[in-house]
Amino acid sequence: MSTPLGYDLPLGYDLPLGYDLPLGYDLIVQQLIPGYASLARLAVALLAASPRASSSGAAVLVAGCGTGAELVEARAQRPDWQLTAIDPSAEMLAASQQRLGVESISWRQTTVEDLNADGCFAGALSVLVLQSLPDDGSKLAFLTALARSLEPGGQLVLVDLMAPERSTLQSQVEAAWMGFQRASGLNADPHDLAPLTQGLHPIGEARLTALVNAAGFGDPARLFQALGYEGFLLQRRP
Ligand SMILES: C[S@@+](CC[C@H](N)C(=O)[O-])C[C@H]1O[C@@H](n2cnc3c(N)ncnc32)[C@H](O)[C@@H]1O
Repeated sequence: MSTPLGYDLPLGYDLPLGYDLPLGYDLIVQQLIPGYASLARLAVALLAASPRASSSGAAVLVAGCGTGAELVEARAQRPDWQLTAIDPSAEMLAASQQRLGVESISWRQTTVEDLNADGCFAGALSVLVLQSLPDDGSKLAFLTALARSLEPGGQLVLVDLMAPERSTLQSQVEAAWMGFQRASGLNADPHDLAPLTQGLHPIGEARLTALVNAAGFGDPARLFQALGYEGFLLQRRP
């Protein structure tokens, strides 16, 4: 369904407008998003195998860390990485810090666009962030800032909800999505779901390719897909 605010996920709920930040985010997101439980693990494993971030002690940015799922995986798989975790939400940062402790991670309450960290990182992770930004220059500004924050040749793992295909199968995909939610026992307060489901701005692959190329990346390589959620590996051009 499209609204003036953007795309809303198909849900077996009526969501009121206006919402708070999520409580119980980690459980909800697993019940809502197929494959979420392995997304962070896969994203970190991909980056850890990249030419630059495979180096010992590589500097890695987690952009939009939320409650810390990617940070937990990064710590487990690559305890040597120098992690910088950013999020504009104080509540999300606090939740993440409570989970991981404040030591040994550089925490910043900021957007990527305001980070000003040109060429500082060997790799970056951005999971479920771009989807919330409108395609009015905001997505390009976000991707450009991410590309700038990387060393040339540095890679970004980008995971996002993509625009639905204009396909005769789309109604089946949406029905399957609702079936997945029911089978996962999703029964959350609609207020808690809203940041993950309302007012999203998914784009198609052609538009993503145009935006990432304009931002300074090469073409995206798709490495993950579960229904509408897709994960891409992007490399900053030299
Ligand atoms: C849906 S959550 C995803 C959190 C986490 N990456 C995960 O997968 O669970 C999106 C997060 O991106 C943050 N965010 C939104 N705009 C951002 C921006 N421009 N730069 C960095 N983070 C942003 C939000 O505050 C929120 O915590």
